[in-house]
Order: sequence, then C-alpha cells, then structure tokens
Amino acid sequence: MSTAKLIFEGKEYEFPVFEGTEGETAIDISTLRAKTGAITYDHGYGNTGSCKSSITFIDGEKGILRYRGYPIEELATNSKFPEVAYLLIYDHLPTKPELLEWRRQLTNHSFIHEGMMNFFDHYPPTAHPMAILSAMVASLYTFYPDSETNEQVELNIRRLLGQAKTIAAFSYKISRGEPILYPKAELSYAANFLRMMFGSPAEEYVVSDVQERALNQLLILHADHEQNCSTSTVRMVGSSQANLYASISAGISGLWGPLHGGANQAVIEMLEKILADGGDYKKYVELAKKKDSGFRLMGFGHRVYKNFDPRAKIIKKACDEVLNEMGISDPLLDLAKNIEDVALNDDYFIEKKLYPNVDFYSGIIYRAMGFPTNMFTVLFSIGRLPGWIAQWLEMRKDPDNRIHRPRQIYTGENKRTFIPVDKR
Ligand code: CMC
Repeated sequence: MSTAKLIFEGKEYEFPVFEGTEGETAIDISTLRAKTGAITYDHGYGNTGSCKSSITFIDGEKGILRYRGYPIEELATNSKFPEVAYLLIYDHLPTKPELLEWRRQLTNHSFIHEGMMNFFDHYPPTAHPMAILSAMVASLYTFYPDSETNEQVELNIRRLLGQAKTIAAFSYKISRGEPILYPKAELSYAANFLRMMFGSPAEEYVVSDVQERALNQLLILHADHEQNCSTSTVRMVGSSQANLYASISAGISGLWGPLHGGANQAVIEMLEKILADGGDYKKYVELAKKKDSGFRLMGFGHRVYKNFDPRAKIIKKACDEVLNEMGISDPLLDLAKNIEDVALNDDYFIEKKLYPNVDFYSGIIYRAMGFPTNMFTVLFSIGRLPGWIAQWLEMRKDPDNRIHRPRQIYTGENKRTFIPVDKR
C-alpha cells in the first residue's frame, strides 16, 4: 500500500493511500487530527470522500455514469425503472421470476393507508408538492413504525417505492379538486403514475406509449448519482440510525433547492422569463457571466461533470423525439437550444467547463406531457428514490459506519463577558 506524506509545522506524517476499483485515489486522513491536531478544510466537500460505495460510478472528466457497473446509456435504452431500482438496491439484475415478484410487491404496496388520506385535505391548494411529499414520507413512519429488523426494512423499501408515486399523484389531484385514482396492477410503474396524474374515474385513461417510454427513461436517468447533496443528506441523517422514512424525507428536502433537483423547475421559469422579456437570450447569457448580477444559467454546470453530463445527452435526444411524436412545438425548446449553442461557444462557459446538465431539457419533456412546473422536482424525487434507498442500506450494512459529524474552524468572537441589558 502506498502512502502520502504531509509536512506540518516541521514534522512529517504518513497517511495510507487506497484506490477504488476504477482507479480513483484517496488519501485516508482519518487519523489526521489525532496525529497533528489539525483538521482539513474543504468548503462544499469538493475533495472529500465521505464513504466507500459500490453503487454508482461517475467519471466527470469523461462523462461516464454507471449503476452497479452498467452504463447509463444501456440501462436508459433497454431497461424499466423497477428493474433499475432492483439493480441499485440488490446489486444484481433480477431474473425474470425475481422481477415479476418485485413488480407485484411494488404494486401491492402502492396503496396509501386510508388514515393518511385525511392529511391531503388540509394542505392549502397552493402547497408546493415537494413540501407535501417530504411531509408525507416522514409521516409514513407514524403508520409503519416497525423499522428495526431486516424484514421490516425490506417491507418499508417496498412501501416507499410503491407509495411515493401515489402520494405525488394524489397531492396533484387534490390540489386541483379532482377525484383521485388508485393504481392498477396491470400497468407499468410509469404508466400507473401517468394514469393517476392525468386520468379520471369518468372514462378509461389510455396511457400514451411515447409518454410512458419517456417517463420510464427519465426516472432511470435520475435513479442514482452517488454522493450528491440529497444523497449525502440521506446518509447524514441515516448515520444517526434514523429510520428509512425520516432519512428519505430529509433527502427530498435536500433535493428541492434550485441548485440541485429544483433546477428543473428553475430552468422552465428562467426560459419563460426570457421569452416574456422578448426572447433576447444572448442578453441573459451575458448576464449569467456577471457574478454581481445574481443570475445564473439554470440547468448549466455541475460539480462533477466537466466535459458533458451523459444524462443531458440522452435527455436532449429524447426531448426532440417526444415533442415530435406528440406533435408539439414548444418555443421554450428552441430557446433552450439557442442558449446552449451560444453558451457552448462562449469563453466563460468553456473555461469554467459549464455544460447543460440533466435538468436543462427534462422540464421541457415534463411540460409537453402536461406536468405543472412545480411537479418537476417531485418527478426527480420519485426517480432518485431507489438510489437514496440503496445508499441508506449500504451505509446501514457497513460495519465501519460512524455517525456523520464534520468539524469546523470557528471564526467568531473570543471569550467575552456578558453585560446585563440595562447596562448595554
Ligand atoms: N451560470 C453561470 N455561471 C456558473 C454557473 C451557471 N449555471 N454554474 C457555475 N458557474 C460559475 C460560478 O460562478 C463559478 O465561477 P467562479 O469560478 O468565477 O467563482 C464557477 O462557475 C464554478 O461554480 P461553482 O458554483 O463554484 O460550482 P459548484 O460545483 O459549487 O456548483 C452547480 C455546481 C451545479 C450548483 C452550479 O453549476 C449551478 O449553480 N448551476 C445552476 C443550477 C443547476 O443547474 N443545478 C442542477 C445541477 S444537476 C442536477 C443535480 O444533480 O443536482
């Protein structure tokens, strides 16, 4: 095993170095503070490996993304979302009987406890569905508090995967004052979700093949992305041995922000704003380059991808196909393509290696399908759910797991004496 040497205050220290299966190198500094008294400072954790994981591999320079070794391109083209969920959680592709049984279980567990239905009635109609999803997922624990044994955890995994889409569709239906629809066993995961969102009890809803295919693909593309903000949140909360529902609920909140999963909503709002302002996209690209403008090109840039985001490549193609097949012409798509063209040829974006990410085109597909903008991040959550679960499970099974507890460098006041209020 190789080592790395650190010279600090004139003394030399050695730290072990280890490699992952794809050759990524890490310096193990877990003994740094004990040996030197110092800690590392890594704002935003850009250089910090928080765990060892065998779930997802990303090479940001080469634009590679693999789940359990399988390239995202192959999974997105040939697989179905429940199969990918199984792969992420159980580390192998299911056999046919395993997949049938898994599908059956997810459908069986997609019904919501009747007691939870009351909750939906009391949210204001304007409630953001991400707030409802996060609260409802945490509330699942109040109905299913048994979460200690492996069997109970397995059951809760199925409940979460089965019910998340039902909760999402119900929150949409109730916000519109429309009757809800329960899932149908014979429909696929994606088709069930579309029917629960857009169907009505008055007439049988026929799920469009194009939309089912597109949604299935989008869910797969979002299914895991190693130690991003929401996944790290799930691990952080779970590291205290909090239950699965609490950990995933926290992850949903982490995903909500516009720098993470909320970017898909923010992209559409940005495009709408540019269009309403006359469509002068070049002006906005210029604005995004000025730090003090407070404006960023949403859907551009990524902490890890520095060449291209392989998910964005697949989504851009899917976006053209879906809109063509549905006979939709969306001025926002033309605008997005123009912005991409200008930005990709601009020195600022080239130097900073800023490319369209997964969120740049996904909203345009969701919009074409009829999803309201505030549901976009909910769709991301449903897609990311198997990844969060797999990461939570991996951590739970890791004998080396410790509670996550970073340190800090204190920069506040030194000790001072309290002065009573009438003497200040
Ligand atoms: N538009 C303009 N400038 C940008 C952008 C952007 N979208 N993104 C980064 N920059 C600049 C940034 O100002 C900084 O400049 P400087 O070096 O002069 O300080 C430099 O590029 C590096 O940016 P950063 O914010 O330090 O990079 P980060 O790794 O901390 O943040 C990011 C990554 C994705 C949060 C950021 O690129 C961003 O805010 N993008 C827009 C929001 C977005 O699309 N988020 C979705 C990410 S993909 C879905 C997911 O997995 O979450």
